[in-house]
Amino acid sequence: MSRRRFIAGNWKMNLDRAGAAGLISALRAKLPHDPGFDVAVFPPFPYLELAVNACAGSCISVGAQNCSHELKGAFTGDVSATMILDLGARRVLLGHSERRHVFGETDVIIAKKMATALGIGLHPILCVGETLDERKAGQTSDVVLRQLREGLAPVAAAQLASVTLAYEPVWAIGTGVNATPEQAGEVHSILRNALAASHGRATADSMRILYGGSVTPDNAASLLAVPGVDGALVGGASLDASKFVPILEAAQR
Ligand code: 13P
Repeated sequence: MSRRRFIAGNWKMNLDRAGAAGLISALRAKLPHDPGFDVAVFPPFPYLELAVNACAGSCISVGAQNCSHELKGAFTGDVSATMILDLGARRVLLGHSERRHVFGETDVIIAKKMATALGIGLHPILCVGETLDERKAGQTSDVVLRQLREGLAPVAAAQLASVTLAYEPVWAIGTGVNATPEQAGEVHSILRNALAASHGRATADSMRILYGGSVTPDNAASLLAVPGVDGALVGGASLDASKFVPILEAAQR
């Protein structure tokens, strides 16, 4: 089963208004109308609308980096999936390791966000990944499988087509130490086999699993060559067109 590749840029809490606009126009200039794979950017909330407008008519889709578990109400500081959709963004990252480990989000809250986001038609990317201590303790598979199971718990079979997965080992994020192609391939297989057991082989084969964690122009091609690695969720290297464009080019080959 061939899955369309997907390269996403998670800007995290970076760039300003001019930087966001400049980056998108630089990407648009390099990308054909249909490069043959999916491209998305995930700007900070204040620049979502700017990004939606700047990406209009291009192949680049736009998503938020997080959303509230509730659709509206007294949740000071939170942003709802409805608001994200209202601005024209179509995607959302859920369970990113920084949300889990810096902000203490649990599998339970991430599952609620998943249900809320899917319920109104956003397309989530569910991120899973182990810490270095968990890897050293031989718990990688237990951790990612628990995050997968809990994150997908509220998802109906018919909704799975709207969900993308991302394996982002915590120890590889922002460290310059990427998972090797073998390490990425091993965990992607674990995830896909679990999906096959829970949802059937055809569904498992249709779902995209991205790799994230210190993806650069230097390692993108070797990571994307791994069977079962369907794309990349890029942090730091997505902030600079001179680094993100070569990663997009690697996906095209
Ligand atoms: P880096 O590419 O900066 O390691 O970040 C990865 C990431 O967290 C993407 O969501």
